[in-house]
Amino acid sequence: MSHESQYTQERITTRDQAKDEREAHHEAEVVIIGAGILGCALAVALGDQGRSVILLEKSLKEPDRIVGELLQPGGVQALEKLGLRDCLEEIDAIKVYGYDVIFYGEEVRISYPENAREMEDGYSEDSRSDEMRGMKRKRPEGRSFHHGRFIQRLRQKAMQQPNVTVVEATATELVRSGYTDQILGVQATVRGEQDSFFGSLTIIADGYASKFRKDFRTDAPVVRSKFWGLELIDAELPMPCHGHVVLGDGAPILLYQIGTHETRALVDIPDNLPSASVKAGGVKGHLKNVVVPSLPEKVRPAFEAAIDRDRLRSMPNSFLPATTNKQPGLVLLGDAMNMRHPLTGGGMTVAFNDVVLLSDLLSPEKVPMLDNTKLVLKQMRTFHWRRKGLTSVINILAQALYSLFAAEDAQLKALQMGCFQYFKLGGNCIDGPVGLLGGIIRQPFVLFYHFFAVALYAIWIYITSASLLAIPIRAVGSVGVFWKACVVIFPYIFSELRP
Ligand SMILES: Cc1cc2nc3c(=O)[nH]c(=O)nc-3n(C[C@H](O)[C@H](O)[C@H](O)COP(=O)(O)OP(=O)(O)OC[C@H]3O[C@@H](n4cnc5c(N)ncnc54)[C@H](O)[C@@H]3O)c2cc1C
Ligand SMILES: *[C@@H]1O[C@H](CO)[C@@H](O)[C@H](O)[C@H]1NC(C)=O
Repeated sequence: MSHESQYTQERITTRDQAKDEREAHHEAEVVIIGAGILGCALAVALGDQGRSVILLEKSLKEPDRIVGELLQPGGVQALEKLGLRDCLEEIDAIKVYGYDVIFYGEEVRISYPENAREMEDGYSEDSRSDEMRGMKRKRPEGRSFHHGRFIQRLRQKAMQQPNVTVVEATATELVRSGYTDQILGVQATVRGEQDSFFGSLTIIADGYASKFRKDFRTDAPVVRSKFWGLELIDAELPMPCHGHVVLGDGAPILLYQIGTHETRALVDIPDNLPSASVKAGGVKGHLKNVVVPSLPEKVRPAFEAAIDRDRLRSMPNSFLPATTNKQPGLVLLGDAMNMRHPLTGGGMTVAFNDVVLLSDLLSPEKVPMLDNTKLVLKQMRTFHWRRKGLTSVINILAQALYSLFAAEDAQLKALQMGCFQYFKLGGNCIDGPVGLLGGIIRQPFVLFYHFFAVALYAIWIYITSASLLAIPIRAVGSVGVFWKACVVIFPYIFSELRP
């Protein structure tokens, strides 16, 4: 009997037992910690492949958070590949066609670029749901929604997958083999009781404040600012069905509709900002005195009402480069492994694309037995480099754009202005950058090209906008602007090259 058929045989005999193994003995091929964006999607993908999966989540109640509310087209496409696109239905999701960038009151519309891809299938238009019809459209679309509603749909999918068992449990400690240091599973608290769950592979997807990350890497996430969130009711947006980025003297502000009546406002507040100090009235003072005047006039009433009504909430905006997993029996994924500034709304797109790639690399055809730790680690190295086509673009762009949009010195201001003027050129000067941001263009070189095109254009504007007498001085100063552009982007490029 060949190894292959022996394996199939084995699986057929154990298939009926797998559920029992999970429920009675808490044993599975895969144990996933965290039923968030990544954990749910991965549980479903692996379950679909016939893997036996236990998914642990500390609270199965609908989360109420200010994160993960705008899914880029590149994320919608990945969701579709995973067969999970209908999770965007029945949650009052809003279509997103692109962005409206507002720079000191001046607007430029940035639509997602047309893509060649069209769905060829046998369905007629009417036999499909609204979500499915969207795919036929030429321009890619994103979606924005209430995070909690989307999560509950994803969790429902995981619960419906017969090869997945979802347990409300708080993971507390990893179980290590005394001999080999291999991770064998995790201890968890289930309804106040201590319990253990065992898997050939333990996957950590417990999010931005990961409890387990620090055991496997020495560096910590870098946080320069926080996003403060408000929920506006019936706000009038300048460009419906678009994300809005408001740029001015301060750090950037995002506005996007997340339901028929609700709009999310995220206000970036850098650490130690004087206008948000206690003396200046704290965050509320900053929102009232600095943010409100910078908003489009018609948004102000809903924003002011939200300041008075809402409990102010914030989340740290973290940067954490990805690392390769080297621990046998373990994989770190999602925000636990890699984070970028949420300005460009890239986190969920990265997570879903990682699930697509990883479930392929770890498929039963490629890795019959997940306890073959050598083979799993080899596949994880491949995963680390292969995901970069998309993730390095999203990570570098998020960090570099944030530096420009939160400009705090003259050189960054020049680059910020150059960036806005570059968008105003239209055509490829829009399609390229927004294609990268939307997770549609997956070539790091395209990012490099546009970034330096912006830098050179910024320098050109910087020199030519000066009076005749000042031109020589500006020409000298332009070296500083170019230098600044390099200082902004190269550290993030290098961070993507680490193993
Ligand atoms: C302010 C802000 C705004 C953002 N906006 C966007 C956006 O618009 N678009 C976008 O794509 N991305 C956005 N992101 C990023 C996005 O939210 C994350 O990248 C994404 O949620 C990561 O998914 P995850 O599964 O790794 O973590 P999460 O979705 O956070 O899931 C982690 C899960 O693990 C559970 N958990 C934690 N600890 C334990 C434990 N010990 N035991 C059991 N379960 C546990 C948690 O309850 C949670 O359900 C934003 C981030 C921030 C900070
Ligand atoms: C569950 O796993 C089995 C193999 O163990 C597989 O044949 C089956 O298709 C899976 N079920 C679903 C619904 O994906």
